Amino acid sequence: MNSASEMLPAYFRLMNASGAAHVYREAVRCGMLDALAAGPKTTEEVAQKCGTVGGPTELMLQALVSLALASQTGQTYQLTPLAELLLASSYRNLGDEYWVHLPTLLRTGKPLVRMDDVAQSEAHYQAQAAVLGWMLTPAAKCAAQLLADTLPAKATILDLGAGSAIWSLTLASQVREATVTAVDWPAVLEVAAETARDLGLADRLQTIAGNFHLVELPAAEFHLAMVANVTHLLTPEENVALLKKVRGTLRHDGRVVAIDVFPGQPEGGLNRTLYALGLALRTEHGRVYSYAEFESILLAAGFREPQLTPLCVPPFAVGMLVATVG
Ligand SMILES: C[S@@+](CC[C@H](N)C(=O)[O-])C[C@H]1O[C@@H](n2cnc3c(N)ncnc32)[C@H](O)[C@@H]1O
Repeated sequence: MNSASEMLPAYFRLMNASGAAHVYREAVRCGMLDALAAGPKTTEEVAQKCGTVGGPTELMLQALVSLALASQTGQTYQLTPLAELLLASSYRNLGDEYWVHLPTLLRTGKPLVRMDDVAQSEAHYQAQAAVLGWMLTPAAKCAAQLLADTLPAKATILDLGAGSAIWSLTLASQVREATVTAVDWPAVLEVAAETARDLGLADRLQTIAGNFHLVELPAAEFHLAMVANVTHLLTPEENVALLKKVRGTLRHDGRVVAIDVFPGQPEGGLNRTLYALGLALRTEHGRVYSYAEFESILLAAGFREPQLTPLCVPPFAVGMLVATVG
């Protein structure tokens, strides 16, 4: 990679990522995004609200339009739904709460918080489950399309570590009278209940609240068990033990669907590597497993014939491993 034309895409990606992050942070810090959240405004009105100068304020607003955070109608600017969502979510500061810990992580190897610790997990995921569900909606639709035809009417679906239950409820929405049993912490299950209400599936969701390592689950009951974005929080030994437990909940013809971040989609390479670094910032044991590592975990838990299907939608880093009880 020597010529300018070969280097320029990577150069612009880096410079734009840096510039965009500066613009977003300053727009939050000086109150520009909150000013627009209160209602559409002209450049002059934004400048007056934020105590900024008109010319640079206009340039900032134009940059926010390029970032799809604002839109312009005539002389006025308004927030896009994306900006509204970011501002109201736990990602308002683009995850800076974790990223500021990067130098310490590099020096000590210690994470900032331990989202994989049972004592901390509920509070963290209560705050993040909804936005995580939003982020994974296209991938959940893609998985549901691939799985729906393989299930009978009235199929029973277990969703372990369900969070918003976006994966299982999206699937249930495509299978006649399918029901979902979601397992998670009590506060997080409230988010799952909200997803069910939004999808008109409130009567098809049951919940089991508590630590999934410890709660008792029905035996030989489910057609499908979904374990989505949970296995990256656990050690290989914990995963084997949990998946053995999952196997016990499945009917003899049942299948497990393990969904997680896997290598293999070049388009999502940066998403995946930054995600792995993010896991190191906020978990003790969290990691991205390779397909081969995960295959041996499933086999050790007694499953057969694991098949990986990459879910080729944003973030282009998530795959679905389906394995049979055998
Ligand atoms: C990364 S989130 C994934 C949520 C959802 N499956 C998804 O893909 O959007 C992990 C979920 O597992 C839950 N969880 C983690 N450890 C748990 C435990 N020991 N018992 C019950 N739930 C747990 C968290 O509360 C969280 O909702």
